[in-house]
Amino acid sequence: MKKKKRSNFSGKLGFVLAAAGSAVGLGNLWRFPYLAAKYGGGIFLLVYLILAVTFGFALMIGEVALGRKTGLSAIGAFKKLNSKYSFIGYLASIVPIIILPYYSVIGGWVVKYFSAFVTGQTTKAAKDHYFETFIGSSLEPIVCLAIFIFITAVVVFLGVEKGIEKVSKLLMPLLVLLTIGIAIYSITLPGALEGLIYYVKPNFKHFSITTVVAAMGQLFYSMSLAMGIMITYGSYMKKEVKLENAVTQIEIFDSAIAFFAGMMIVPAVFVFNGGDADAIKAGPGLMFITLPKVFDSMPFGNFVGALFFILVLFAALTSAISLMETIVSIVQDKLHWGRKKSTIIITLFSLVVALPSSLGFGVWSGITPFGMSFLDFFDFISNSILMPIVAFLTCIFIGYIIKPAAISEEVKLNSAFKRETLFVVMTKYIAPIIILIILISSILSALGIITI
Ligand code: PFF
Repeated sequence: MKKKKRSNFSGKLGFVLAAAGSAVGLGNLWRFPYLAAKYGGGIFLLVYLILAVTFGFALMIGEVALGRKTGLSAIGAFKKLNSKYSFIGYLASIVPIIILPYYSVIGGWVVKYFSAFVTGQTTKAAKDHYFETFIGSSLEPIVCLAIFIFITAVVVFLGVEKGIEKVSKLLMPLLVLLTIGIAIYSITLPGALEGLIYYVKPNFKHFSITTVVAAMGQLFYSMSLAMGIMITYGSYMKKEVKLENAVTQIEIFDSAIAFFAGMMIVPAVFVFNGGDADAIKAGPGLMFITLPKVFDSMPFGNFVGALFFILVLFAALTSAISLMETIVSIVQDKLHWGRKKSTIIITLFSLVVALPSSLGFGVWSGITPFGMSFLDFFDFISNSILMPIVAFLTCIFIGYIIKPAAISEEVKLNSAFKRETLFVVMTKYIAPIIILIILISSILSALGIITI
């Protein structure tokens, strides 16, 4: 079997950019704002940020260090350190397989909106019901999702991620600037202040365990944690890179983009819907319903809208590529198929599995597993069930099997480990307990035993 040489990132910047390319995607731009709007605005933001600097930090340090220490990706890394625990690596590998299909459905929506803005249909796209009519139809969303998967597959098939990384260096900063620019425009619209206050000011009346469940699921998703991705990226990281520093930068970058995405969308919901509760809780469609109205209200909205959606498409593609790449490497390693065969089969598989998520908003809307649409159902399985299980097991593995010292040693190779105590306490005691509570409550609520 051909053995691929394990490449290294050129330095810290290489690692940070590549990991950020995977981390920054639809999770930040599409998922975060709708969750923040739905789960109480400021209180969700606060809980998310607290979890990010405590729990997210500990888990990301742990995963990246596991990868760099072993030089292997998830399955191999757990196996090398203690072969009895390689099942954690397998479990982590299932997550991208579940996410990729439904991620592509949303990617398809972005394709559609980009094409609408490019062809000058801004006003039409800003109309009420444009979005519902589109996702409720059968053929068009499927064509769009197929286009999205196809572009992802071509990149993975040809192995041109290196080229993509170079383009990312230009497009990612552009996306950040544009997001901040639109956010500033949004909050200066008449009536936005009330929305801005809702978004940034914690209101403890809105706090419940659901806030924590949703924020934690979002944290895993957004930072590509608990699915083996950060272990793989860590395995490519050079030993001389300061690990703690690099992790801190990714966290700040990822959270900042999510924050501005929320600022771009949440206040705008208040502007265009006058703070109507249904509009605030619109769910997965929020970005697609609110932003076109913002673009329609601004000068050169057509151009800004087209530019925005092409950049979002790009961010979504870099994330989808990292998802598909991970699945391809697992399949290659385990089934010994070639890269091209693996890519083709995974593409077809994802396309088929994506169909219910797409049709679930239209002809199949009557079928609701556990009371959810198909897309929400897949999202729930990965974010609220599998990822917490993997995160819990990873904490136990690091905290009690290999011991935190094994990770600290790796982090300290070339710099001090400033937040070592936080890392140890989180990994051993706090994180496993919180995750367990969250996991149990989300299972019980899905079964209808409790309402959270
Ligand atoms: N973190 C990505 C986002 O926020 O959109 C989603 C994601 C990408 C998850 C790649 C997992 C992954 F491997």
